[in-house]
Amino acid sequence: MDSADQFRFTHLPHPAPVSVAQRTELLANPGFGRVFTDHMAVVRYKEGQGWHNPTIEARAPIALDPAAAVLHYAQEIFEGMKAYRAADGGVVMFRPDANARRFRQSAERMAMAEVPEALFLDAVRELVRADRDWIPSGESASLYLRPFMIASEAFLGVKPSSEYLFIVIASPVGAYFSGGAVSVWVSEEYTRAAPGGTGAAKCGGNYAASLLAQREAKRQNCDQVLFLDAAEHRWIEEMGGMNVFFVMDDGTLVTPPLGGTILPGITRDTLLTLARDRGLTVREERYGIDQCYADAASGRLVEAFACGTAAVVTPIGRFRGHRGEIVIGAGNGADPVTGDLREALIGIQRGQRPDPHGWVQRID
Ligand SMILES: Cc1ncc(COP(=O)(O)O)c(C=O)c1O
Repeated sequence: MDSADQFRFTHLPHPAPVSVAQRTELLANPGFGRVFTDHMAVVRYKEGQGWHNPTIEARAPIALDPAAAVLHYAQEIFEGMKAYRAADGGVVMFRPDANARRFRQSAERMAMAEVPEALFLDAVRELVRADRDWIPSGESASLYLRPFMIASEAFLGVKPSSEYLFIVIASPVGAYFSGGAVSVWVSEEYTRAAPGGTGAAKCGGNYAASLLAQREAKRQNCDQVLFLDAAEHRWIEEMGGMNVFFVMDDGTLVTPPLGGTILPGITRDTLLTLARDRGLTVREERYGIDQCYADAASGRLVEAFACGTAAVVTPIGRFRGHRGEIVIGAGNGADPVTGDLREALIGIQRGQRPDPHGWVQRID
């Protein structure tokens, strides 16, 4: 089923791609997620026929029947990953196989057709090759890739769809945060995911449910929202689009464990390995919000950071919530352990440092 031949992509080049001059202008300051490349990868699925017609085609609006299941029952999943311009001018990706695996696991949780990992990787690579001129160079610039899958069967009965569209689009991006440390609002009223729910799947519904809390965070002048567990409203889980780490004064790193309610972040997993490589003690264990406030007051908690594909490693300067505000370290993001891990991660991703775990894949 997933042999290379079966998934040979048909290329239908864009008849009127963006001009070189316009692309150069767009790449100079792309922001995050507003500029898109010329092409997209599209693969269709139908029960009885399987995955078929893989194409790289002009990026364009997609036609959906108004009864398409995704529009009613939110059967949708996605991924977020990046292609980088390496120091030698080549193109690299970081752990794309981990995204392929998580996409398959998300599909399973949402009762969707599973995209074979080989097909997922081919779609991403073919799109990066087709739009390689869109990969920006520069410190925090990259080509953000957004693979996603929607239920496309036109049927109003509540059941898993029998038809799907798997699409990959690409967006040249700069830094997600503008620099320095971020402030985080601790959401006490809204939770993101409950035990037995879909917290570990990267499905759009999780993000829809987080938006009101994110808006509340903005109203409180915070950059991001931190969610607590749904059962006791006590244990720190994760942020709206990132995992979270804490650094104690003895150099120990603490991060909430994976238990089905948080996203198993690929950056999180990578940093756990990099920290262990450095001889740091790492604890994946529950950390209560009360303990966090007490540790900040006593000086035991010295650093905190958010991590994810978009955020990379971003220092957290303060937490604010109904129990008041705590400042972490100096509050300005000049945090040594966070900075060291960030440098190590970026160095490997950009091909500037050795890659002992074989995480980096060349595309060309
Ligand atoms: C809710 C959530 N948690 C964590 C992450 C970090 O995951 P990753 O490191 O795989 O990007 C993301 C970003 O994708 C996310 O949306």
